Amino acid sequence: MNVIKLTDLDVSGKRVFIRADLNVPQDEAGNITEDTRIRASLPSIRYCLEKGAAVMVTSHLGRPTEGQLNPEDSLMPVAVRLGQMLHLPVRLVADWVDGGFEVKPGEVVLLENCRVNKGEKKNNDELAQKMAKLCDIYVNDAFGTAHRAEATTHGMAKYAPVACAGVLMGAEIDALSKALHEPKRPLVAIVGGSKVSSKLTILRSLADKVDQLIVGGGIANTFLLASGKRIGESLAEPDLVKEAHAIMDIMKERGAEVPLPTDVVVADEVSALARANKICIDDVSAHDRILDVGPKSAVKLAEIVANAGTIVWNGPVGVFELPQFAGGTKMLASAIAHSEAFSIAGGGDTLAAIAKFNIADDVGYISTGGGAFLEFLEGKTLPAIAVLEQRAAG
Ligand code: 3PG
Ligand code: MG
Repeated sequence: MNVIKLTDLDVSGKRVFIRADLNVPQDEAGNITEDTRIRASLPSIRYCLEKGAAVMVTSHLGRPTEGQLNPEDSLMPVAVRLGQMLHLPVRLVADWVDGGFEVKPGEVVLLENCRVNKGEKKNNDELAQKMAKLCDIYVNDAFGTAHRAEATTHGMAKYAPVACAGVLMGAEIDALSKALHEPKRPLVAIVGGSKVSSKLTILRSLADKVDQLIVGGGIANTFLLASGKRIGESLAEPDLVKEAHAIMDIMKERGAEVPLPTDVVVADEVSALARANKICIDDVSAHDRILDVGPKSAVKLAEIVANAGTIVWNGPVGVFELPQFAGGTKMLASAIAHSEAFSIAGGGDTLAAIAKFNIADDVGYISTGGGAFLEFLEGKTLPAIAVLEQRAAG
């Protein structure tokens, strides 16, 4: 992908506007519970500060109502955490669209939640033009929001004097392209999670590309139904059995496979106190709920992963938050960590599993994107990247 990169530009003395994705999870009191995205945004900010730019950073946080700033929508906790990481004071500026605030070279300010500005979500042109006037260089480093065409992710890139990709954006594009175009084979994808419906497009598009498509969670249950198995009261989408069938057919025709579990871990409820039973898939009874793959199936999945050339991972294969249903995801995580393959992982649940099983250092690349990660892998054009390519083309 041909985009201008921040590190190819002379930013010294320039007013640089960085659109980051600092949309981090928070608890009910507003405390940040996971700060990967803030950490991942540091290289671009540091680069600009070291070169003596006047740095403005903004992000959305959640999905606030435009036109009002409620306390829970404020980036204040992010400003504090960013300041701690940079060892610098980070001033938070509200009402910034029309300017009227000062940033000196070598200084960084955080501009309040950009999604409270009227017109942000609809990519309003007037708003984008106003914001573009604040800077000499616009940097998009918000890969996690690259699938959204909003005023700070798309419109501004059209109107700023220079528009480029930040360090994180560049790294994401490089890593994901490497897995998607000319991957080392076998290419193995793991798609887990509760619903086929939310991942149908990615499953369809992977079915044309991968050598093995490992499905997990509720998605696997729907595939089990499609292959004629009884799944008791397990979470599944009977409406999508046809779709699951079609995906298995496409894979079969290509000589590729969707390995389904031959043994499973069941319980009669999803709770910390639930008693887990390991049984053969043919012994699932009417009241059982499948909550993980069984140990034999986990070993089979680990073998597939061990022999892979490239691994793409999105979603767990069981309810790994509860120890009695964590075995399958844990074994898979460990196999990915030990595999020689180039591995990429993305999505909230996947990041939580990586943290829980402590394998972050052994995954080839961990994407900060959820929706954007999936859309990129589907081969879709992400609007925030497309506009950077247009600007690079002149
Ligand atoms: C995410 O968390 O997936 C990104 O920050 C995008 O957020 P959004 O889905 O609210 O646009
Ligand atoms: Mg989201």
